[in-house]
Amino acid sequence: MQLPNLNAARLRTNAAVDYVYLNSENNSPFTNQKYFLKTYGCQMNVHDSEEIAAHLSSLGYTKTEDLKEADIVILNTCAIRENAHDKVFGFLGRCKHLKKEKPNLIIGLCGCMAQEENVVSEIRAHHPYVDLVFGTHNIHELPQLILEKQKEQAINVYSYEGKVFENIPYNRDSQIKAWVNIQYGCDKFCTYCIVPYTRGKQRSRKSQDILKEVEDLKDAGYQEVTLLGQNVNAYGKDLEGEMSFADLLEAVSKTGIPRIRFVTSHPWDFTDAMIETIAKYPNIMPYIHLPLQSGSSRILKLMGRRYTKEEYLHLYQTIKEKVPNVAITTDIIVGFPNETAEDFEETLDVVNTCQFDGAYTFIYSPREGTPAAKMLDAIDLPTKEERLQRLNTLINHYSKIANTKYVGKTVKVLVEGPSEKGKDKLFGYTETMKLVNFPGSQDLIGEIIDVEITAAKSFSLDGEVVKDAITNH
Ligand code: SAH
Ligand code: SF4
Ligand code: F3S
Repeated sequence: MQLPNLNAARLRTNAAVDYVYLNSENNSPFTNQKYFLKTYGCQMNVHDSEEIAAHLSSLGYTKTEDLKEADIVILNTCAIRENAHDKVFGFLGRCKHLKKEKPNLIIGLCGCMAQEENVVSEIRAHHPYVDLVFGTHNIHELPQLILEKQKEQAINVYSYEGKVFENIPYNRDSQIKAWVNIQYGCDKFCTYCIVPYTRGKQRSRKSQDILKEVEDLKDAGYQEVTLLGQNVNAYGKDLEGEMSFADLLEAVSKTGIPRIRFVTSHPWDFTDAMIETIAKYPNIMPYIHLPLQSGSSRILKLMGRRYTKEEYLHLYQTIKEKVPNVAITTDIIVGFPNETAEDFEETLDVVNTCQFDGAYTFIYSPREGTPAAKMLDAIDLPTKEERLQRLNTLINHYSKIANTKYVGKTVKVLVEGPSEKGKDKLFGYTETMKLVNFPGSQDLIGEIIDVEITAAKSFSLDGEVVKDAITNH
């Protein structure tokens, strides 16, 4: 087989360069072949998958949603909780089976699990049918690995600590809203969390590169950007002379892109300047994901979260007072080692006080290599499950209340596409990140329109388009 020249992939390791890719005219052996890409985990992974897709299509592959059609399968994995491991190896088992019928099938694993040494050893020892393994720091070397695979199992997981690449190609999933990385990695080392190990130290992108990307997206007709990072409020702290997150938000706002979101905010790094900026600029959306993790100051200390229950509540109230109509969601972990019934009641107390718009809730999962995994834990699983259930009931109760407040109101919705809720229905999100389903013409897709909310469900709203009220941009 004639192998294409993949200098581009190597070049990236030395400097930020433009990609010079081969394409089908270069007689790529992969033209007419199909890729199946499965993504687990957070928005970081979703966005990384857009890069993976770009590399695969630059080699000549086209996308398929049907596993059986695939010539290459890539699993972009998450390591945040242990159960991810079983899901991924279960899926690999299916791929192994497929490979019996289709011996040339290429199977690749990447993402946060690929950064775990024990996972890589397990694959090396017991899963020889996995052709490629690559980490979160070397996605750009995928084309190279696909070629190396022609010889033997190719494992390429290492760290480019301190490096930030620019000019990354993306096959974006949407032409309406886009992810924009503003930082990589995390320096917080919360004691339960594996992310600093799988993603490395915090590295911020230069503000001028971020602003250029947002400008380009705006020029391409994008209506919304979401600034991405594990701890966006700490933006710039690792770069000398770089602007703060509040200033970055202001600069992004001034590009005039219609909608700006950001995720995830760490309470410890949230400043008054950020709150003022969010309140001041109408294109910065009044929606904040502000993970609480626990309502008990004792547990928060053991988690290494750097704030107390009182400090969280103070921040929460300040945001609510200063940002009109803001919606706040959160993440909560139950069953951290030795969380007592009293600790858990403190969490319920914060939920009752804050009445969050929504929350992602998790049972604590020990992750090998993190400090919390070494803590002794006397609390049994049924107790943790019961707590999770109680917490979820309360969270759902407040979500429903928050949604009910929208009934009868007219809100701005960015229309994203046809709804799963029925023929001739569309869906979109309010400024406060509420999902709305409503009847309407496909012409509205990509527009920000006024929708009157007619009914509230636990996790979505129903509405009617307010006629002749399409916002002009
Ligand atoms: N950077 C974000 C969170 C990233 S991980 C932040 O600091 O908030 C997403 C969520 O997964 C976390 O907020 C936490 O609630 C949950 N999580 C992380 N590690 C976990 C673990 N070991 N067990 C259970 N949940 C965990
Ligand atoms: Fe994990 Fe904490 Fe970093 Fe979030 S801030 S990614 S929870 S270590
Ligand atoms: Fe999972 Fe990695 Fe994100 S561990 S939550 S995919 S950063």
